[in-house]
Amino acid sequence: RVLVLDFGSQYAQLIARRVREQHVYCEIVRHDITAERIRELAPKGIILSGGPSSVYEPDAPKCDPGIFDLDIPILGICYGMQLMCDRFGGKVRNASAREYGHAHIKINDAKDLLSGLPDETDVWMSHGDQVEQISGLFRPLASTRTCPVAAMRHVEHKQYGIQFHPEVTHTPLGSQILRNFVITICGCEGTWKLGDFARETIARIREEVGDARVICGLSGGVDSSVVAALLYRAIGDQLSCILVDNGLLRKDEEGAVISEFSSHFKTDLHVVSAKERFLNKLAGVSDPQEKRRIIGYEFIECFKEEATKIKDAKFLAQGTLYPDVIESGAAQDGPAAVIKLHHNVGGLPKELGFDLVEPLRDLFKDEVRKLGIELGLPEDIVWRHPFPGPGLAVRCLGEVTEEKLAVLREADAIVVNEIKSANLYRSTSQCFAVLLPVQSVGVMGDARTYDNAVCVRCVDTDDFMTATWSDLPYEVLARISTRIINEVKGVNRVCYDISTKPPATIEWE
Ligand code: XMP
Repeated sequence: RVLVLDFGSQYAQLIARRVREQHVYCEIVRHDITAERIRELAPKGIILSGGPSSVYEPDAPKCDPGIFDLDIPILGICYGMQLMCDRFGGKVRNASAREYGHAHIKINDAKDLLSGLPDETDVWMSHGDQVEQISGLFRPLASTRTCPVAAMRHVEHKQYGIQFHPEVTHTPLGSQILRNFVITICGCEGTWKLGDFARETIARIREEVGDARVICGLSGGVDSSVVAALLYRAIGDQLSCILVDNGLLRKDEEGAVISEFSSHFKTDLHVVSAKERFLNKLAGVSDPQEKRRIIGYEFIECFKEEATKIKDAKFLAQGTLYPDVIESGAAQDGPAAVIKLHHNVGGLPKELGFDLVEPLRDLFKDEVRKLGIELGLPEDIVWRHPFPGPGLAVRCLGEVTEEKLAVLREADAIVVNEIKSANLYRSTSQCFAVLLPVQSVGVMGDARTYDNAVCVRCVDTDDFMTATWSDLPYEVLARISTRIINEVKGVNRVCYDISTKPPATIEWE
């Protein structure tokens, strides 16, 4: 395996993923991991990620200098390169010409790390600092117009630095560079598969958990289903799952999750029917943040109450993915800038007193999906669109009532059903209906109506941080609109949301 030491890069997960695409297992670890621990883990290579800091600042994150003496190949990317340079007596300065975006490099040494690359190629730069001068221990391999050392290598050891980002798609030959590093330089075989990840993770869970009981919150979504499947394979009936029905689920969802669960796992399932409880707390509340806060709080209370009924439970399994880790407050003790406080009600607080099992921490959504298939989960679960923790409450604008939820559920089921019938479910990332707190005049038969409007939202995205609205065929939009207006009582108007994220978000609240 290869380790990525994370210095707070927004791209650390992308580096890991690109290495895994070379069929080499890659894990992300904190930048301050000790050399001793790395020796125990015995990786074949180490990658030092980029990061937002400047190496010359007093509190800049550094790594254990002992790692440079481990005789393990090292590749420093951007900040990682500057760190190597700083460590070995070179000079890093704030660049007079900052480089963000495309740059053109000239390669003067197209061997090992840069082997197979042409003399000149495009790369993606994103840095304010750069290496001004390298010590005699390194020699330059490439440069750009403004950056004299865009790549370097140690004269004796297999230690390399690159100022640009090989992990982003804007560096077209980036995969070749990473491949050169992990396969040629580190000597990895390149035979790793997600199936190996499943096997290794299952073995690791068994070892970690022993004969204790593990609780897993189930939502029916891809992540929690894959976690449950991994745990079930690892520890069988030592697993207890909890499904909280907050009354904010979609049409027939609770039943579908329970029947799918029972057909795949023969283990303990606790269903907490808390519909009334949630709706009572939400009565009269229309502020979106307050709605989210109430739902988050009640979810934790319900979960806690049910968990105390499960004897000998010591662990809590969660489907946290790497992007959740980096976007959420959990990253606050690390060096990464917090981009957004994630509102994931699945993220239970530490005070619950369980040890966490988070087997998907290093994976991306699409890798989780592949893993789900590997574990034998049906396509229907594996390709399910994400559904937010606060459920339909954030799509039922203003105050949430049972009547409004009933209208929304019907409209939403039609949207999803029509998208599936048109074979568009896999190519879109998320599709749903939003019930607007707006009434408008219509005419049905010969009578005047004064009913609600529903907005259809359908988006395409890879990472859910940015999104575009899906360019759905007019016939599909027409069918959705006709069906909602004809079949859902209380709705006489349908709109289609054509806002991108940013500046809009995917959900309306
Ligand atoms: P936004 O609306 O922030 O949504 O553009 C981005 C993605 O996150 C989902 N989402 C949530 N997921 N708990 C979740 O687990 C939440 O509170 C939550 N809010 C939004 C949203 O559906 C989209 O996929």
